[in-house]
Amino acid sequence: MTGLEVCPFDAPLGAEIRGLDLTTPLDPDTIEAVRAAWHEHLVLLFRDQNLTDEQHFAFTRQFGPLDYPPHKLLEIARGEIDADAPPEINIVSNVIENGEPIGVLGHGEAVWHSDSTFIDIPPAASLLRSLEVPESGGDTYFMNMYTALETLPDDLRAAIKGKSSKHDPAYTSGGERRAEYTETDPSKSSGPIHPLERTHPGAGRKALFLGRRMSSYIVGLPLDESEALLDRLWDHVTGGDFVWAHQWRVGDLVWWDNRCAMHRRDAFDPNVRRIMHRTQLAGERPV
Ligand code: SIN
Repeated sequence: MTGLEVCPFDAPLGAEIRGLDLTTPLDPDTIEAVRAAWHEHLVLLFRDQNLTDEQHFAFTRQFGPLDYPPHKLLEIARGEIDADAPPEINIVSNVIENGEPIGVLGHGEAVWHSDSTFIDIPPAASLLRSLEVPESGGDTYFMNMYTALETLPDDLRAAIKGKSSKHDPAYTSGGERRAEYTETDPSKSSGPIHPLERTHPGAGRKALFLGRRMSSYIVGLPLDESEALLDRLWDHVTGGDFVWAHQWRVGDLVWWDNRCAMHRRDAFDPNVRRIMHRTQLAGERPV
């Protein structure tokens, strides 16, 4: 095995992986060691990896099939396009070229979420690589949803036992409403139903699976009770000590597990360029 070193952060989740050059194929033992570190630490940071998009795809593919970027996943879910072309790179950026944004999310804050939980089979993981970053702002935060579940007060844990929630696609992670989704009552809107306690298929641990707060709904409850229970759950997760924050450097690749970690991003100066490229690993139906 190549000289891989796993250096856990002094934080509720996350580890830096040192000693790997991601531009070249990994041997099978190294692949399994990285996979084990991913399942143990939920978020992995690889520094100084100046990959091309092709190398980024090739690295990702060693761990499973690729998934489509979020907007394509929604179009496929709505039956508007077929999933026959290979997934392309997902650009997250505030840069405008020739009057058009080159990517998604702009310079604003992105609220806590897991990626694309508004489809039946959300991606297992996202691998985001920084090409240009501001000197300050645009930090990304990750939350350990195993610990969030395990520290729920007993009455709250009992209240969600066996329950599922609807993951309505109405809002982007930037908090904007998607024009195609007009139903404003979350109990009546469309969206897949996922369990609130989700078992990670690789780690075998249970995590709290919330998706995002806006337009969420706990199935089977009157809307006001669903809202009250969701508020208590979100107060617990946002008030707890479950978070690792990352300040980006150019050449970072950060890989997070959407099944057991949520993330959010700070806003940054709109006059400063931030360009990130992302691949996604396909997941499985949440159970
Ligand atoms: C995201 O929310 O997926 C983007 C994170 C980031 O831009 O750092």
